[in-house]
Amino acid sequence: MQKDQLRALENDPATSRAPFSVAIDGPAGAGKSTVAKRIAKRLGIIYVDTGAMYRALGLKALRLGIEPSDIENVLPMLPGTDISLDHIDGVQHIFLDGEDVSGLIRTEEVSQAASKISAIREVREKLVELQQALAEKTSVVMDGRDIGTVVLPHAKYKFYVTASAEVRAERRYREYEEKGKLDGRSYENILAEIIERDDRDMNREVTPLRPAEDSVIIDTSDLGIEESVAAVLEKMGLSAL
Ligand code: DC
Repeated sequence: MQKDQLRALENDPATSRAPFSVAIDGPAGAGKSTVAKRIAKRLGIIYVDTGAMYRALGLKALRLGIEPSDIENVLPMLPGTDISLDHIDGVQHIFLDGEDVSGLIRTEEVSQAASKISAIREVREKLVELQQALAEKTSVVMDGRDIGTVVLPHAKYKFYVTASAEVRAERRYREYEEKGKLDGRSYENILAEIIERDDRDMNREVTPLRPAEDSVIIDTSDLGIEESVAAVLEKMGLSAL
């Protein structure tokens, strides 16, 4: 057996008993979720997209006509709200009060609502608890903003995946263009949305987005998907296979 295969086996959660976690944080549009999904597949463990949980709560607020940054109105909504995840054919589905809302949470309106509602301490406490319970039961690759710093401070591997705001806006612009989701927005509009969300996520009072001290920073500005995945796997001592 080759040395890298042996190392891969030693690091492989399938061959280790205790739940194993990989934390991936970073700003919107840096390629975190694509990288996280690929790493989870390679390791044979589940991928948990924590942003979907904040999005589901943001969606509920919008549906109720509640401004997502309005603490007074958001707090009473929390106790009666049930957020849960399921993996169907390896794909994460997010449930809001029992309804599968996976297809409804990827709009710009919900992105901004999620970013606003996520700044509320009680919202974070509720969702962090859920995320920690998940990672206690099973091995995960979890992506978000505070995974390495707050949710899983003892994760075996921590990555901070980032890219310049311009590169992220360009990728998003192309993605929306391909999917016909531009809705008349220009590259400049999308760059402004990204900068607005970065600013809120990085400067909020409660656990702002920042790299954990012991995380490995992967800047994907000049990397394609394959190169980004390979860079993460290499840091974990795993081959791409
Ligand atoms: O990863 P995403 O774009 O789906 O996340 C949506 C918003 O949710 C993001 O702007 C900030 C918030 N979020 C958070 O505060 N903490 C997380 N762990 C994940 C997302």
